[in-house]
Amino acid sequence: MAGKTLVVACALFLGMCFITNGAPNEVTHAFCKIVWLLGIPCDEVNIAIVTQLKAMGSYKLGSVTAALIQATHNSAVGQVESVNFTMIPTAMGLGCHVEGSSVSAFWYSLFDNGTNYCNLHNVIQGSGLTKAPGFAEFTNEWLCLGFGLSACK
Ligand SMILES: *[C@@H]1O[C@H](CO)[C@@H](O)[C@H](O)[C@H]1NC(C)=O
Ligand SMILES: *[C@@H]1O[C@H](CO)[C@@H](O)[C@H](O)[C@H]1NC(C)=O
Repeated sequence: MAGKTLVVACALFLGMCFITNGAPNEVTHAFCKIVWLLGIPCDEVNIAIVTQLKAMGSYKLGSVTAALIQATHNSAVGQVESVNFTMIPTAMGLGCHVEGSSVSAFWYSLFDNGTNYCNLHNVIQGSGLTKAPGFAEFTNEWLCLGFGLSACK
């Protein structure tokens, strides 16, 4: 009986069921994913992001490779978020596809007023990459909780 009820619940809340089965963390932790496209090579993007993370006091740089930059961010209220920037070269290495991901460590920050969005956006903004040729940012409320509410400082 319990199994049947679950199937019905999934049918009614298909989106929720998908999220719950696919990535449990994303239900209990606030998160944000952003995709950026830039018309400059990934190694330039990598250097700009690392330089910016080092310059911003609230970030602690973790492991850095050509493809992945990991860091943590301390927001003012003593919360910690884990932040990743994943770089994938586009056609012939002339451009770079960057995926930013920020996840809060604690469930109570589920409604984070855009903290996770700003964690990612502020780095790219501060690094000057928003002025790179062909720059574009893609996200929405499904990928990025609180995106609509965010007012990054
Ligand atoms: C960052 O990448 C690591 C290694 O792939 C992964 O374990 C971690 O969950 C990622 N963190 C975020 C915030 O996406
Ligand atoms: C979000 O913003 C509201 C209004 O400014 C504030 O009361 C609330 O504490 C904030 N929530 C978080 C998690 O920062």
